[in-house]
Amino acid sequence: MIPVAAAQFTYDELTSIVGWYADMGVDIAIDETAHDRFSEDNKKPAAAPPAPVRPPVEAARRAPLARLDAMPAPASPDQAIGSAKEIAAQARTLDELRAAIESFDGCTLKRSAQRTVFADGNPQSHVMFVGEAPGADEDRQGLPFMGRAGQLLDRMLKAINLDRSEVYIANAVPWRPPGNRTPTPQETAICLPFIRRQIELANPKVLVCLGASAMQSILGVNEGILKTRGRVFDYPLANGQKIKAMATLHPAYLLRSPAQKRLAWGDFQEIMKLLKDAKA
Ligand code: URA
Repeated sequence: MIPVAAAQFTYDELTSIVGWYADMGVDIAIDETAHDRFSEDNKKPAAAPPAPVRPPVEAARRAPLARLDAMPAPASPDQAIGSAKEIAAQARTLDELRAAIESFDGCTLKRSAQRTVFADGNPQSHVMFVGEAPGADEDRQGLPFMGRAGQLLDRMLKAINLDRSEVYIANAVPWRPPGNRTPTPQETAICLPFIRRQIELANPKVLVCLGASAMQSILGVNEGILKTRGRVFDYPLANGQKIKAMATLHPAYLLRSPAQKRLAWGDFQEIMKLLKDAKA
């Protein structure tokens, strides 16, 4: 973040600067003082030990800063993926898996997130929805799909006579990417063993990926969502069993492109059919 000396600006100017930072994805304060990393790069290494971290500003007070400092540097991505696979495979229940994810420090997203967002709804449900990653509302509340996209998801569920207590909802990545950016392929790869194990342990009859990011990582499809949505896949579980899987448009995309809701409606009808067949 570029340092701004607050005293030289009016209230309106400061509000607009903060708004601009938020639009650029800088929405988390991790220190009270801004740092000009560009000029720091040009300086000789300081001989003196670093100054103690100053108290966080209000916006960052909810963030686990103490833990942020205490957290060990993440391993290499390959090591992190290996350790995620090992830890995930050892979890015998969803509660064990949640605890394992909460104590996993191999994904840097955890450093800026306030909470690990594991799941909502009914883990015994026959249908599981998997989104991309938590946003700001989910990060605050610790539950997936709590914001506007979540409200739309609730309405879409209602359209097929379901509500949150009758479905199981999770995300491919359990920590909020700063500024709500899409998780990087590396972040997604590190978290993949966790969501795979979560799917296995929940053992739904029908799996629905919401949006391209979840679809690409979980179903291993590299095509775009508009091409792949609505197609039925056999998703293999580690025990050799296969469950029906489908991808549909992400509710956040539908909020931006409401004309595409008719496609999602078609997909939800197919989900209903898959569920009916699975129960028959
Ligand atoms: N978008 C997602 O993909 N997941 C959430 O939990 C919220 C918004």
